[in-house]
Amino acid sequence: MSLIIALDFDEVAAAEALVATLPPGECRLKVGKELFLRGGPEMVGRWVAAGWEVFLDLKFHDIPNTVAGACRAAADLGVWMVNVHTLGGPAMLAAAREAVEGARHRPLIIGVTVLTSHREADLERIGLNGPMDAAVGRLGGLAAEAGLDGVVCSAREAAAMRALGGDGFRRVTPGIRPSGTDAGDQARVMTPAAALAAGATDLVIGRPVTRAADPVAALAAIRAEVEGVASRPRGW
Ligand code: C5P
Repeated sequence: MSLIIALDFDEVAAAEALVATLPPGECRLKVGKELFLRGGPEMVGRWVAAGWEVFLDLKFHDIPNTVAGACRAAADLGVWMVNVHTLGGPAMLAAAREAVEGARHRPLIIGVTVLTSHREADLERIGLNGPMDAAVGRLGGLAAEAGLDGVVCSAREAAAMRALGGDGFRRVTPGIRPSGTDAGDQARVMTPAAALAAGATDLVIGRPVTRAADPVAALAAIRAEVEGVASRPRGW
């Protein structure tokens, strides 16, 4: 089980200030497109050099050769995890995995299935047939077949993803809200303990920590909640 703090900041200084207060070893860091475009590889490299495990959430989706090159660059940066869109298809997913085989720091590669912002009506418009769970199952199956290390999914889909890929297939889940906190724009939320019980392996938590009056205390409270549920060793 691990807790991954989503650093959704529009200023590098604000992200740096939060990271300076977080206890290394108690959580990991997620860097998405906005912060990456502002802070760049130098910022990520600084955190990696300081011992942080970084999830580079750039959701690569391009032709196989281009995605392979991007995954190699992520490996060279020393990140812990990087993600790709399963909609890129089997050849792209295989190229992503093969690109990092044998890397000195092999990042975990996980697949995004259907974005949680999509509703069933959107699936039809973009040409994905069938109900949501069928589409998620089909795309999660592509990730498992390509030998990816797991998927980003909602906690509601975690058990189905474990059935597809096995226990070692990670289920990285956003949309986590400790009870009593604001859901914000997330439509379908779960508490940290409920998400783990539902089969999540890594919880992505943004605003409940980053916007808390005391982020360190908020993180500690979440850790205390999940440690009662987590059976896996820390850092899995
Ligand atoms: O602040 P909050 O806890 O809602 O942040 C969740 C994080 O997870 C954000 O960085 C968001 O972009 C990301 N995410 C998500 N849903 C997905 C994939 C990623 O909320 N399906």
